[in-house]
Amino acid sequence: GPRIEKEQANLGFAEIPHRLDHRHHLPDDYTADLLLRWGDPLDAFADRFVPEKLDAAEQSRRFGYNNDFIAFMPLDPDAGPGEGDRHCRSSNSERGLLCVNHEYTQPHLMFAGYSEAASIRGTSDQHIAVEQQACGHSVVEIEKTSGGWQPVLGSPYNRRISLTTEMDIVGAAAGDTRLRTNEDPSGMRVFGTVGNCAGGKTPWGTVLIAEEGFGGAFQGDPNKVADEVEAQNHQAFGISPENRNWGNYDRRFDISVEPHEPNRFGWMVEYDPYDPQSKPRKLTGLGRFEHEGFTLVSKPGQPIVAYGGDDDEHQFVYRFVSSGIYRPGEPAHNRALLTEGTLYAGQFREGGAGVWLPLVFGQGPLTEENGFRNQADVLIDCRRAAKLIGATPMDRPEDVETNPVNDCTYVMLTKNRKRAEGDENAANPRARNSAGHVLEIVPPGRSGERDHVSDSFRWNTFLLGGNPNAEDPAERGAYGQQVPGAISPHGWFTNPDNVAFDMRGNMWIATDGCESFGFHDGLWAMATEGELRAAPKHFFGCPQGGEICGPEFTPDGTTLFVSVQHPADADNSTFDNPLHRWPDNDPGLPPRPSVLAIRRKDGGVVGR
Ligand code: FEO
Ligand code: CA
Ligand code: CA
Ligand code: CA
Repeated sequence: GPRIEKEQANLGFAEIPHRLDHRHHLPDDYTADLLLRWGDPLDAFADRFVPEKLDAAEQSRRFGYNNDFIAFMPLDPDAGPGEGDRHCRSSNSERGLLCVNHEYTQPHLMFAGYSEAASIRGTSDQHIAVEQQACGHSVVEIEKTSGGWQPVLGSPYNRRISLTTEMDIVGAAAGDTRLRTNEDPSGMRVFGTVGNCAGGKTPWGTVLIAEEGFGGAFQGDPNKVADEVEAQNHQAFGISPENRNWGNYDRRFDISVEPHEPNRFGWMVEYDPYDPQSKPRKLTGLGRFEHEGFTLVSKPGQPIVAYGGDDDEHQFVYRFVSSGIYRPGEPAHNRALLTEGTLYAGQFREGGAGVWLPLVFGQGPLTEENGFRNQADVLIDCRRAAKLIGATPMDRPEDVETNPVNDCTYVMLTKNRKRAEGDENAANPRARNSAGHVLEIVPPGRSGERDHVSDSFRWNTFLLGGNPNAEDPAERGAYGQQVPGAISPHGWFTNPDNVAFDMRGNMWIATDGCESFGFHDGLWAMATEGELRAAPKHFFGCPQGGEICGPEFTPDGTTLFVSVQHPADADNSTFDNPLHRWPDNDPGLPPRPSVLAIRRKDGGVVGR
């Protein structure tokens, strides 16, 4: 209604300028607590962090590298471990579990004297052992104190998930021959997760984490894999002899030894942060590809609908609809919802119509004639299946999230320089798309109560990234234009990646790529409805080399957590560059990816 529009327009912070330096930047009247850095201990009595002395056992009890997705899971003071269903309904905004992905490692920025050549030859086992513990995920209890947010060291909830954590494989592909290895003849048990990019949360207290660029963990020559289907599969995910030789340290990452091991990665993983003993599960029903993340629309009495993207050029947007119905307060029932259902890929037609096409074995072209033996093949080779059924190839789908206020779903399309002239489509209108864009999916129904289960929808272009005054049309931005002058010279941005919505329905976009346009990556906030729809305002800027990920609000909106990933990363960046020591600015410490907790100095709602 009009009240919401008026409030949405009220993004009252003092906008920051485009910049590029080795600090982070916030509007006046805001402050950022440095909450968690790579190497920070999770235990109460840990030694000081000395990167040169780090071994795998120690890294497994410290915060990991390259923080990405963040989920804030509140703690209900009256509930204990194992009662996630109760905790997650709490609106406690002063104490909770911060659940953080660690996407990948960058040994040349982590270890003094690191040698890439030695690593490719496989002679740096010690580094690889540490790296396998530095990626994955962290659960850290945090509390808001009079001095700001702090980790609760020694909390029984604190946990690391890494490349050695045991997990189950569940859903329609579990146990399939293509998931079986020498180590696991059942095809239902796997160690570890990698490439953990974005993710999602469920209303029954679990967290979803995505496996995106898993190919880089595997080494070997796909052309030497006897099975042609697997050879093509491995090639498509970037497995090559040029990759670093993790296989020398742990044989399963060598595809000549275990040609099926890569099929056990590239899934969404669900786990329960409120039960530190719980075993994570890989959900095969959500398909196998370079998952950015999956986010849920949960309405009592209806199926769960989850949306996600495959972050690669010309890949697809997906939707999952559960077979069962979401029943609040029945955690045992709800915990099975993501294991059974139907996966769909999006077709975005001319004129703003769209349909969700089912990825079901035996339907349409998904048959034995086209090389699919069963539903497991459809899920393992999801990209090939989605292409065959006619889904629309997109400009690298990153986050896909639903605005809880207007109930529309937004697709971040980060860029696609490989889209050739003549290869444009209505939903991806720019050849050589270097700046990215955002689509709005409008399911049928009224604002706030839309039908996400419907197989048809409307869609429109919410904004085109880039400078609105750029000469090259491939780089020219287009934003909301209803109020002249609503967008300042610092309001434009490029390369949308992650997204969050505040409680008023404003959209907060995190970027990955603005430095190629001359300024830092950061956060831009904007209304999705009303006169100021799609008119962005610049809120946060990263230190040089970093991208920003995982924006996440506390339930009361007074804290905004962000991940600064790979600070100081650039072509030719080295361990020793004295200008790039964010956030410690200590010559004895390398740059460290870190999580910040952003607050208004007066304690008010962020953005208002
Ligand atoms: Fe890991 Fe799609 O960014
Ligand atoms: Ca991302
Ligand atoms: Ca997000
Ligand atoms: Ca990205």
